[in-house]
Amino acid sequence: MTRADYIAQFDVPSGMLLDCACGSGIQLAAYASRLKRPALGIELDHDRAVASCLNLNTIAERYASFDQGWHRRSLVVAGDGTASDDIASIAGFEPGDIAMLMLDPARPRNSRTHGLDEMQPNLSNVFEAWKPYLSSTSRGPCIVLDLSPRLTQELRDGVEEIVDSFWPGIERTWTWMSRGGGRVDRLELWLGGVSSPGISKRFVRLSRTFGGEDTVIEQHSPVQNPRHGLQSARRNEWVTILDAALVDSGLVDAWMDAQLSSAADVRWAESSPRRPRIHHNGPLKDDSHPFVVASGRVVEILDLPLDLENIDSLVATALENDISAMTIRCGVEADLQPKLQGAIDRQLRNRQGRRKAFLTRHTASNHLLICVQYPQNGDT
Ligand SMILES: C[S@@+](CC[C@H](N)C(=O)[O-])C[C@H]1O[C@@H](n2cnc3c(N)ncnc32)[C@H](O)[C@@H]1O
Repeated sequence: MTRADYIAQFDVPSGMLLDCACGSGIQLAAYASRLKRPALGIELDHDRAVASCLNLNTIAERYASFDQGWHRRSLVVAGDGTASDDIASIAGFEPGDIAMLMLDPARPRNSRTHGLDEMQPNLSNVFEAWKPYLSSTSRGPCIVLDLSPRLTQELRDGVEEIVDSFWPGIERTWTWMSRGGGRVDRLELWLGGVSSPGISKRFVRLSRTFGGEDTVIEQHSPVQNPRHGLQSARRNEWVTILDAALVDSGLVDAWMDAQLSSAADVRWAESSPRRPRIHHNGPLKDDSHPFVVASGRVVEILDLPLDLENIDSLVATALENDISAMTIRCGVEADLQPKLQGAIDRQLRNRQGRRKAFLTRHTASNHLLICVQYPQNGDT
């Protein structure tokens, strides 16, 4: 529904919404009910095609729109999503009658990444089949490709090449969607009439509550600030642990430009996918921004291994710094982590500290950094 809401902002021409590999039909139903356009779903698997029909009915009823035109004129075909001419003759539509094409192809499971020719149905075949049937806007046809978040930059370039071979230079907006936790849940390419003018990339962090406000970052022209590595950690500098999905999308530079002044002198301590961390001068503009896992100022640098034996001295140092809670935010063996965190929590409980902090580790020297959060942010 979030995606359907975005698409509703554009001038989608009249006609059918086509999903040529519609699976359960849920996504198609979301678009159709929001845009109030008839849906055309095609699904190779017969049982799934039947399920799509049921889901379209259920959703049409749920949104009390059963008697609306879009539903009565919707259709699901059990067949090959590239057999456009056969389907056009069964369904009785003409070239130019399709308002929007969406494709969420099947792809191999269980592999970190996959080749473009493993997508079913294949992108080129789908474009070849449906190009004549797509209605056009002044910015070209409306197309949404739902791709795997696992696509590498090289494969994303490959997708763009295929698109350009059918619609040279068509405008495009890549969209990453995340429900948080550092994961990318969806990667989409929005083309032509549903691309955002001048915006090449967008990152959407979905709100935690249905209908709540999403957090969106957009990149107008490619920016890639030079990345400086961290040499040594210093007291009083700021440390921010970032949402891993934001870094993964390549939109982190656009975000940092908005959050930090040019004097911040950002140093990348760790660009590891799991816990990306930057060190910088001066605070973030918004340290409780949803892309911030934790942000704080280094108050202590300790040359200690993080183990149970050292918890007492860690806690003593935390108390000297007026700390009431300290979260471990560096790599620790999975079974040790809860023991260490439990010991810290127990010892700090009911003491006099007032500030929240987190503990991280300087990658090169292995020193522990105690970082105090100013002001206390929504870090959980
Ligand atoms: C990732 S799923 C689509 C999920 C869908 N977006 C939803 O909301 O449930 C991909 C679907 O493509 C179907 N498929 C694969 N090759 C196809 C083809 N040549 N024509 C039509 N459907 C195909 C698969 O059976 C599978 O159900």
